[in-house]
Amino acid sequence: METQVFSRRVNDFEKDICEVLITEGEIAQRVAELGAKITTDYAERLPEGESLILVGVLKGVTVFIADLLRQLKLPVELYFIDFARHSADTRETGIIELSATIGDAIEGKQVLFVEDIVDAGLTLSYMSRILALRNPSSFEVCTMFNKKENRVMDIPIKYVGYELPNRYVVGYGLDYKERFRNLPYIGILDKEAF
Ligand code: IMP
Ligand code: MG
Repeated sequence: METQVFSRRVNDFEKDICEVLITEGEIAQRVAELGAKITTDYAERLPEGESLILVGVLKGVTVFIADLLRQLKLPVELYFIDFARHSADTRETGIIELSATIGDAIEGKQVLFVEDIVDAGLTLSYMSRILALRNPSSFEVCTMFNKKENRVMDIPIKYVGYELPNRYVVGYGLDYKERFRNLPYIGILDKEAF
């Protein structure tokens, strides 16, 4: 009896997805391509003994960055910024303090800022300015998904996984009200679920 209830719950968790836009296999393939490209680019420009510094903003990017990281055949260091944790301070001062660990890691280093999705570009623009203040020796951006139609701030993005139409997507780390991050594919939510 219990087993039955459990399996129904498991199947129900994705019932609000009306369309799969990008499959798990397609995602894996694209991440491997991005990883190979980034590896080639930085193998040439990374000084001997130095790591590529990957920086991501929690939480959406965690799934992508975990996959991308393992496709990089380079010395890398991984750092996360918890934007949500800073948002109360940010509202008052307009700035967030990078933790000392991240600040020191960035200074004079080659930084790759990794995003799950760029939409209006406000988050990216803001983070780029904050990270630039720490004087990295280079700064590039990699996003798995890019929605250009709503773009307000145009920051150059060197590595893009997929261009997406202007629709709200979930899965592969992306949420709707904190749900659906665990879907291994990119899906469209049924209107009813909003
Ligand atoms: P923007 O580029 O400043 O508009 O913000 C991008 C952020 O908005 C991302 O990091 C996501 O957290 C969120 N976001 C934008 N579009 C989507 C989407 O389609 N699904 C889930 N989150 C999204
Ligand atoms: Mg994000």
